[in-house]
This record gives sequence, structure tokens and C-alpha cells, in this order.
Amino acid sequence: MKNIIVTGGAGFIGSNFVHYVVNNHPDVKITVLDKLTYAGNRANLAGLPADRVKLVVGDVADAELVDKLVKNTDAVVHYAAESHNDNSLIDPSPFIQTNIIGTYTLIEACRKYGVRYHHISTDEVFGDLPLREDLPGHGEGVREKFTPDSPYKPSSPYSSSKASSDLLVRAWVRSFGLKATISNCSNNYGPYQHIEKFIPRQITNILSGIRPKLYGSGKNVRDWIHTNDHSRAVWLILNEGKLGETYLIGADGEKDNKTVLEMILKQMGQPADAYDHVKDRPGHDMRYAIDSTKLRTELGWQPEFTDFAKGLQATIDWYTEHEDWWKDEKKAVEAKYAKNGQ
Ligand SMILES: NC(=O)c1ccc[n+]([C@@H]2O[C@H](COP(=O)([O-])OP(=O)(O)OC[C@H]3O[C@@H](n4cnc5c(N)ncnc54)[C@H](O)[C@@H]3O)[C@@H](O)[C@H]2O)c1
Repeated sequence: MKNIIVTGGAGFIGSNFVHYVVNNHPDVKITVLDKLTYAGNRANLAGLPADRVKLVVGDVADAELVDKLVKNTDAVVHYAAESHNDNSLIDPSPFIQTNIIGTYTLIEACRKYGVRYHHISTDEVFGDLPLREDLPGHGEGVREKFTPDSPYKPSSPYSSSKASSDLLVRAWVRSFGLKATISNCSNNYGPYQHIEKFIPRQITNILSGIRPKLYGSGKNVRDWIHTNDHSRAVWLILNEGKLGETYLIGADGEKDNKTVLEMILKQMGQPADAYDHVKDRPGHDMRYAIDSTKLRTELGWQPEFTDFAKGLQATIDWYTEHEDWWKDEKKAVEAKYAKNGQ
């Protein structure tokens, strides 16, 4: 695969993937297709070689544009999405348009030209799991993690739009022989993540002299993975994954939100309790946890970022050193949360 399209390549995870491919696979050229919504940022691609990375500003739901680009490529890696749960509770419509119609548009073009397609999705399509302490025997002997066979039970407009897009891809594989794979990954952290998201919001709050905010009790568990480990897994699946298969990507990084916030505070030299509890997100999923055995045994993937405190420190350092990247948006992001009591 020498020429690939990366949709959403100016966003958080997509841009990290573009950097990963540029740095590790020198013979690959990338066309980034990105609408540059509030979450997309040209600066995320700054410094990349112009002869290897081209940005096309456009919509994944624009069938004419997508047809033209897909016709001349070897593969499409589809990251573009509306990605924030809280926004989907305020206005679901862009989630339906981009996540469902956008995916439909891309897979139609890939099927027409026989182009390889990889679909990026989330563990949130599986709904949530009970907290370990609520499981009989604290989870021993019961299936307590998501597997590729877990039933789809999405909770929010965001996760249901992603679930819908996964199901379209599965159907296009079965009915039309689309050359596709799907990956469902757990919560990512790392550089270039929009400051509306949990970890960057807390870090930039502290850097701005604002008290961090914790939804509800903070007992909700997320299974954290460094975005570089996600990128390595996606590249492996794109090149060695079995067509038609779904792979779950996770690095055994379960931590509750309260613990993560306390770690951020301590690592930034603040008292661990220097934060406010705010109104919980409606329908807030309790726990996500990924069983990535299939990816590890079939494709030999292992996470490299196994020390969360170290990865978190690198992320804190990145936001500290890149204030220019986020400071203009900080006020507006916090005003939006404040309107919602969060
Ligand atoms: N953030 C996570 O922890 C996480 C975990 C698992 C899976 N995912 C999935 O990974 C993907 C990327 O997530 P992210 O956190 O990087 O999101 P993000 O919001 O940071 O970036 C999304 C990118 O898509 C672009 N985009 C939005 N609508 C578009 C459209 N109609 N046409 C073209 N481009 C458009 C935006 O401009 C932005 O650059 C999503 O599919 C998401 O569901 C995210």
C-alpha cells in the first residue's frame, strides 16, 4: 500500500496516525481528507513533508469528492467523525450525518473501485460493563471485558452513530465483498487531543488556573491507551488483518476518572483534592474494558506505553509546551460546559 487516504487526519487520533506512518513507513504517501470542523486543526500536520502528506479540505459525505479521491488510492483509513459524547447530547444531527452518511459514502466508493477500507471505531458501541466491585466474586470467572463477539448496546447518540457505521461496514463485507476490517479501540490519550476531552480539559484547566471538574462520583472506568499504540495496531490490521474481521484494541489500562484526575493533579504539583464535582453526564457509561487477545495472538501486537503515569506525564508536558495550540479556544470550551452546569 503506497497511497492511502486518512479521513479525519487533522483531528486527534487521525493526525497521530499520519505522524506515525510518515515516521515509520517512508514509502507511503498520504492524502488527508478532513472537513476541518472545530476539532480539526491544520497545525496538527505542521512540519510533515509536503511531498508525502497532502491535505484535502472536504466532507466525507461529499460523494463526488470522495469518488474522485478513492478512485486513485490503495486504501482508506476512516477516522473522521463527530467524536464527543457531550456534544451529541446537545445536538445529534452532525453525528448522524458525518458518522453514518459519511461512512456510507466512503464504503460505496471503496466497493465501486475495489479499494481496501479500514474502519476506526470505539468500544462504546458495546455499551458499558458493571464495575468490577459489582460483579459476583469481583469479576472472577465471569466475562468482564468486551470481546469482538460482544453484543452492540450503545448508550448515546455518539456511540449509536458509530455502532450504525460499524454495522454498515459489516453488511457491505457480507453483501458486496467490501475488502474491509474494523477496529474498536478504548479511550485514547496523548498529544493533539481537543481540550473538550477529559484528560486535556483537566490539564489545561490547571495550566489556566481553573479548578478541574469531575463528573458525578468519578467512579466511571475507562480503559486508557496511548494513541501511538492505537496507531501501530491500526497499521498492523491494515496490512496483516484478515478481511471481514473485527479487532479490539486495548492496553489493559483500566482506571476510574477520579484516579486519573488525582494523578494529573499530583503530577502537576497540586493537592490531589483540588477539584470540583459537577453534574454527571446523562446516561454516563459505567465501565469499559477491552479484551485484545485476538489482536495480540493473531497479529502479534503488544502495547509499548505500559506505564500510564509516564505517558500521562509526557501528555502534561506536551500541553504545557504547546499553549499556543490550545489557549485561544479555552474560554469558549469552558463557557460551553458552564452553560450545562459542568
Ligand atoms: N478519542 C478516543 O478516545 C477514541 C477511541 C476510540 C475510537 N475513536 C474514534 O477515532 C476516530 C477519531 O477520533 P478523535 O478523537 O481523533 O476525533 P476528533 O474529534 O479529534 O477528530 C475528528 C476529525 O474528523 C474531522 N471531521 C469531522 N467531520 C468530518 C466530515 N464530515 N468530513 C471530513 N472530516 C470530518 C474533524 O475535522 C477532525 O479533524 C473517531 O472515529 C472516533 O470515533 C476515538
